Amino acid sequence: MRKVGIILAGGRSSRLYPTTLGVTKQLLPIYDKPLIYYPLSTLMLAKIQEVLIITAPSELDIFQRLFHNHNLGINLNFTTQSEPKGIAEALLIAEFFYGQRADRTCLILGDNFFYGAGLSQQLWKAVAAKDKAVVFASKVRDPERFGVVEMKPFDNYFHQATSIEEKPKKPKSNYAATGLYFYPSSAYEYASKLEPSPRGELEITDLNKMYLDQNNLFVNKLQRGSAWFDTGTANSMLEASHFVQTVQHQQDILVGSPHEIGYNNGWMEKEDVMHFANKCKNDYGKYLKEMINHGHE
Ligand code: G1P
Repeated sequence: MRKVGIILAGGRSSRLYPTTLGVTKQLLPIYDKPLIYYPLSTLMLAKIQEVLIITAPSELDIFQRLFHNHNLGINLNFTTQSEPKGIAEALLIAEFFYGQRADRTCLILGDNFFYGAGLSQQLWKAVAAKDKAVVFASKVRDPERFGVVEMKPFDNYFHQATSIEEKPKKPKSNYAATGLYFYPSSAYEYASKLEPSPRGELEITDLNKMYLDQNNLFVNKLQRGSAWFDTGTANSMLEASHFVQTVQHQQDILVGSPHEIGYNNGWMEKEDVMHFANKCKNDYGKYLKEMINHGHE
């Protein structure tokens, strides 16, 4: 089964102006590493080794420079989205790279941060769910800001969606559809049938509705204690930074390190981890060195 990942890191991040006038938010730090590391880590935890990063044209070379010499043991490609025309456009762009040849596609937004004890297993289940479309959902206080999904129990792992609406004025549930989606190969063809919404975007919620109409939209609820940050504002970036700092310091682990995950997945050579660690003369580099020399749980 060919499983591929797409990280959509285009957009203007205008909610973070003036900070993002010069650089996109996915390159800004969440505590000790660039934001883009976190969605990339999520894909790597899902054991996805083929990843396409979609950026704004003006940022392409900066992303390439960031990942130069990373040797994460994954096949990392880059391409551009000329104008931010909606999340579902990511599939149209990725079709050139993957098209119908991908059995399973995981699309994740470049500003979405996930963390939690049971997350890896949930990701593997979503990858293995073959022909199902799966969205990850999180309970939130302000569902009207998101895609909102209503659901009923299905089996031990999934709920089945019964409705999904984009930013409804009267939300039917408290569950936000997060920016983490798994699709079968049909998603590329379905995305090509979408029409722009009133806000001029190809909405991911409209794609999800196509699967809903076929009773084929499923929901993975983030478990209690899991964290999801949609890091679009100064406050959410700071909150996410504090979260990473707290967890890393208290437990002596790294959160969202593609190097640690690449190594633990058996994809990264010791020498490559060491080479990178030597460049980072700080706690990030120190942790990676200790992982190689003594092992970490
Ligand atoms: C987008 C999606 C929305 C989803 C959210 C998650 O919203 O349209 O369904 O809940 O991402 O981050 P947007 O960022 O376009 O407002």
